[in-house]
Amino acid sequence: MILIRQRRPSDDGALLEVFNGSSFQRGAMTRGPFASKEELALWFQTLATCKLELVAEDSGEVIGFGVLALLDGERIEHGAWVILGVRETHHRRGLATELLETLLAAAKDVYRLRRVYLNVFADNEPAIKLYEKHGFQIEGTHRDFLWRDSGFVDACTMAKIFGANAPDKIDCSSSGQLKHAGGDAGLREV
Ligand SMILES: CC(C)(COP(=O)(O)OP(=O)(O)OC[C@H]1O[C@@H](n2cnc3c(N)ncnc32)[C@H](O)[C@@H]1OP(=O)(O)O)[C@@H](O)C(=O)NCCC(=O)NCCS
Repeated sequence: MILIRQRRPSDDGALLEVFNGSSFQRGAMTRGPFASKEELALWFQTLATCKLELVAEDSGEVIGFGVLALLDGERIEHGAWVILGVRETHHRRGLATELLETLLAAAKDVYRLRRVYLNVFADNEPAIKLYEKHGFQIEGTHRDFLWRDSGFVDACTMAKIFGANAPDKIDCSSSGQLKHAGGDAGLREV
């Protein structure tokens, strides 16, 4: 059974394998592999002040993650960005769908955000299809965004706007995890 839950420090060894796997490196990384789980933990820590960090667990094994990182600043706090990754051995089983739907449900119904966006490499067809399927639209292209395999690759910004949600005041704890009256709302077994 797949469980979607919040990330714990003890997940970082398994997450290191997801981040350093070839599909994540090629599909999503703007830097080379992480040297250690401590370096990865620091990366998580510095992503954003307010964030929701989820992992997907299959029979006790962490095989994917998703992050919703809220923007800082009172005129943009209705927005957040997303990043997702699933271990190659578990692709095409609906895990990214479950992670993304959980993040989007939290964005809309718990945190009452209006705009969720992300950057995706223009040749990452699986991810673009996934996001389009969930209502994201391409807003623009960043030309020659990435240097990879001896050539430049474009990237796209994709965004989804939630209808009439009014921006809400977000309460961030000092630990950097999002706090809300909804608590762990959005987390579920699938
Ligand atoms: C993109 C990624 C997250 C998809 O994860 P996944 O768990 O395999 O995706 P799902 O099984 O939930 O697939 C959902 C939808 O995504 C699209 N999709 C996923 N893999 C695809 C592929 N290889 N080719 C075309 N479409 C694909 C399809 O629309 C699919 O729906 P369908 O199965 O009904 O056709 C995964 O390939 C990955 O981790 N890639 C490396 C990291 C990455 O690119 N992250 C995104 C950075 S912005």
